[in-house]
Amino acid sequence: MEKNIIHIVPQVEVKVIECGPLRIGGHVRIILPDGSVLVKRRTFICRCGRSRSGIFCDGSHAL
Ligand code: FES
Repeated sequence: MEKNIIHIVPQVEVKVIECGPLRIGGHVRIILPDGSVLVKRRTFICRCGRSRSGIFCDGSHAL
């Protein structure tokens, strides 16, 4: 029975920062609307819609 259990070790962590962005830790590939691809080890994704850096948090949420 034990041999049928698949142990998954998460490779990416997503933390929801209260009143702020999503912090994504771990290597991720981000595909932008224009098809360009970014690979980042850690990034902050805007949730407030005020960022002037596209999908990335620029701190504007705190203003
Ligand atoms: S969450 Fe930081 S600018 Fe939007």
